[in-house]
Amino acid sequence: MTFNPLKEKGMPLEKQLRNWHQIVAKPYKKQLADCYTRTRQILMNGIEVEGWGFKHQFNRFMSDIDSEDKANISRIGRIENQQQMTCNWLGPADQSVLETTLGYEQVAVDLTAWLAQNEPDKYVKETFDFGLLEDFDHLYRYAQFAYMTEGVEPNDIVKDQTDVIIGRPTQHHHNCNALRIRKHYDKTTASPQTKVNIMTVLSGEQQTHNFYAEHGFMYGDHVLRETYAEIKDVEEEHVTMYESLIDPSETMLEKALIHEFTEVCNYYTCYEDETDGEIKKYWEIFFEMELGHLQLVADIFKKYEKRDPEEVIGSEIVIPCRFKSQKAYVQKVLENEVDKRLAPDGEFYNSLNEIPKDWASYAVQEKAAEISAPSENCIQLIEVYHDRDLVEASENLKNKEIAILEKGLQKKGLAHNTVMPDKLQKMINNHEKRKELKEKII
Ligand SMILES: [Fe+2]
Ligand SMILES: [Fe+2]
Ligand SMILES: [Fe+2]
Ligand SMILES: [Fe+2]
Repeated sequence: MTFNPLKEKGMPLEKQLRNWHQIVAKPYKKQLADCYTRTRQILMNGIEVEGWGFKHQFNRFMSDIDSEDKANISRIGRIENQQQMTCNWLGPADQSVLETTLGYEQVAVDLTAWLAQNEPDKYVKETFDFGLLEDFDHLYRYAQFAYMTEGVEPNDIVKDQTDVIIGRPTQHHHNCNALRIRKHYDKTTASPQTKVNIMTVLSGEQQTHNFYAEHGFMYGDHVLRETYAEIKDVEEEHVTMYESLIDPSETMLEKALIHEFTEVCNYYTCYEDETDGEIKKYWEIFFEMELGHLQLVADIFKKYEKRDPEEVIGSEIVIPCRFKSQKAYVQKVLENEVDKRLAPDGEFYNSLNEIPKDWASYAVQEKAAEISAPSENCIQLIEVYHDRDLVEASENLKNKEIAILEKGLQKKGLAHNTVMPDKLQKMINNHEKRKELKEKII
């Protein structure tokens, strides 16, 4: 169904305050939940965190708007804050930090893959494909620790919807900041779909960064703590990369419109897709609330900018993400683009054989891996627990793992503890040899 959200009234702001019992909802059951109920819950938490934070930035920077308009922005911010609690706390108390982490990376993989296939701007699409392979590798690294630390197998969380196998190795995700800053879209020509796509993935990445920042210390295992630190730093790069796609000349009022429009579109999609009847009710109510926010912000926009909000967000709802399995698409990008790197011109992408010797990211990578790369240590460790790395994929993709690693590994800027292709092959062979022995009861 298509409609113009600017023509919908939604729920009036004065009706949006809720009591604590309404705010703190009943969590889903981690064993029974559809993995995509979890990804929606994680993503909407990220979108609300961004929505809430933006209102504060708005009121800190906007000096020339009336106090009543400022008060309304602040009132909306309070509602975002309440929605955030509901979304985040739908997560159950017995879902461990590592299990939730696998959920976060599943969000990143399946969301970014969807966005890449539904992105009208070719350059933005290429950036989505680039980021996709990095989060795909994070999922694989964390899956090793979930097994070693808690006996959790990847499919306990990703439910066979997302492959877990090596991607672009995490040690190669560390880049010079100047290269992570990409070319931005032009606000006068970019489609509303592009604006919503970027705001959606940016919010997700930012919250992933925040989650690792707040939870990476919660394990005693030092290698795991270091891995959280390493991957959190990559999420910081992802925030830098995705935010740099946004036209910095957008006014705060244009940004306010895009934020509310992004929330409207995401809750609408969540409502359409949700299979959990109880949670679906929240998506419906929050969709109504966001329509109310959009109305208010559109009125403020018109008052000060004396333009039609449709110039910024168009006249139709857009679909930012339908969570569903993206295995075929991800495998295609993985096989073709695992050797891609940020080009030295700060705009395009190069394959490894095109990267110059003085590539600015080498210095960052060499410093980061001066002692060792935690993300490589985790594969070194899993050998003791499981003979080989833990992988969940079709036989066809599993058989390509060594070739993918060979293609994705750099020659320069490698940590000394890197698991090289011959070592991984040995691990795989050992696993096969010992399998029969292990399966015998006596
Ligand atoms: Fe919201
Ligand atoms: Fe990630
Ligand atoms: Fe990420
Ligand atoms: Fe909102």
